[in-house]
Formats: sequence, C-alpha cells, structure tokens
Amino acid sequence: MLISIVNQKGGVGKTTTSANLGAALAELGKRVLIIDLDAQSNLSAHLGLASDPEVIEENPNPTIYDVLKGQKALSEIIINRSNNLNVAPSSLFLSAADLELGGVVGRELILKRALSSIEGKFDVVLFDCPPALGLLSLNALAASEKVIIPVQSEYLALHGVRQLLDTIDQVRSIYNPTLKVGGVLICLHDSRKKLARAVAETVKSYFGELVFDTIIRTNVSLAEAPASGQTIFEYAPKSTGAEDYLALAHEVLGD
Ligand SMILES: Nc1ncnc2c1ncn2[C@@H]1O[C@H](COP(=O)(O)OP(=O)(O)O)[C@@H](O)[C@H]1O
Ligand SMILES: [Mg+2]
Repeated sequence: MLISIVNQKGGVGKTTTSANLGAALAELGKRVLIIDLDAQSNLSAHLGLASDPEVIEENPNPTIYDVLKGQKALSEIIINRSNNLNVAPSSLFLSAADLELGGVVGRELILKRALSSIEGKFDVVLFDCPPALGLLSLNALAASEKVIIPVQSEYLALHGVRQLLDTIDQVRSIYNPTLKVGGVLICLHDSRKKLARAVAETVKSYFGELVFDTIIRTNVSLAEAPASGQTIFEYAPKSTGAEDYLALAHEVLGD
C-alpha cells in the first residue's frame, strides 16, 4: 500500500501522522517504510534519525535527494529505525530539487520509478510531503495508491483544500488514473472547543464519506514525543495520541 500524506498547508499534522501512523502499522506487524520528502527533515528528526550538521558535512549519508538525482537506488538509503519501521531520510538539499529537476523529462515520475528497487520489501510506504504542491508532492502523488489529507480543526481548515483536490485530479488524469483520496483526517482536534466541533461538522458535510471516522485529538504527548526522537508508542503508549493513531491504523487497513 502506497500512501501520500499531503496538504500544502504547514502545521496540520502531516509529519506527526506519517511518524505515528507508520509506527502503529509497524506495531500491527506491517513492514513499513516512511519516505521523508520535506527538506526540513522533521520526520527524520521525529524518529531520532537526524544527523547533526557537522556529521553531514564530513560524511554525508545518502538521502532521498540522491535518489531523485539518480545517484543512489532507494534501497541504498533506507535506515532500519526499529523492528518493522524503516525510514528514507531527507536532506536540506531537497529544497533545491524543484529547480534542479525542473528540466528533467518525466520529472514527476522519478519517485515512482525509484520504487522498483524496493518492490516486495514493504507492506506500506508512506510519503511525508512538504508544505507545498511542488515537484516533490507531485512525485509522491504520482507514485501513490491513496492520499491522506490531514486538516486541522480550526478556522480556515478547508482553505487550500479545493486546490489540493484539483491537483489530485490533474495527477490522476495525467500520471496515475487509479489514485484515490483515502481520506480526510481531522487532526489537532480539541473537542472542548465549540469552534473545533463546528469545523469538524463542516469538514464532514463537505467531504462526507471521505472523512476518517478516527479523529486525532490534540494531545500534548504527540507534541512532546519528537523532542526525544520517539514515536507516540514509545514515548506515551497509554496516551490518547497512541489510542487515536492505533485506531487510524486499523481504519487504514480496513479492519
Ligand atoms: N494531535 C496533536 N496534538 C498536539 N500536537 C500536535 C498534534 N499533531 C501535531 N502536533 C504538533 O503540531 C505541530 C505541527 O505538526 P506537524 O505534524 O509537524 O505538521 P506538518 O507536518 O503538517 O507541518 C508540531 O509541533 C506537532 O508536534
Ligand atoms: Mg511536516
């Protein structure tokens, strides 16, 4: 199963969802690969895999950037994080990828082609996309079977989502006819807030069946876990965050 976690808005829960949905699926016995496509490397850092800048300068570990440039196979850059959880790390160099790859023929399909080197090795591949609908997100969408769109339950939650759906339609018609919106995921939900409840209702009336039953509640442990390089299941296995992401994993698997 190949899933893009996409929203061009930052701070909506993409990376938190990539890390913890990935971890939950790994807990359930799936072989999981998370591909960090954000130049900020938040996902790699969240999972305790970000090298410090000096190490990077001395001995740069290969990253997804090298894969997109055609200098490494995807299989060569993957780090086994723990048991079933694997990560393809990102690099600051990715911030130049849009420009550098702009003139390459078939530039939207680089990632899809790169997946051939890992065929059969993983049950689930998650793409943690950057906060932009540029070449990296397009590559993820072209390579995916499904899209998960995290939205924050606050004012302007749907802002930009129409544009995102248009982009998904375009990718579908040009590169990837079977791409499905696997669901809109309400994140950072504080049910005590009247506004959050109202927004959740709006999201549901707009997207109907496409909204996941699981709602990711605001939970301080989810915000704290990245600082110690841990998933929510390592940092606070009894938290509501762990409960919500486990429920999401079951929903994604169709259990
Ligand atoms: N359910 C949640 N409860 C509390 N904090 C959260 C939750 N989801 C995300 N966060 C925090 O909100 C911030 C933005 O989330 P992040 O996943 O990095 O968003 P994105 O990848 O879309 O930019 C991060 O500091 C993260 O720790
Ligand atoms: Mg992110």
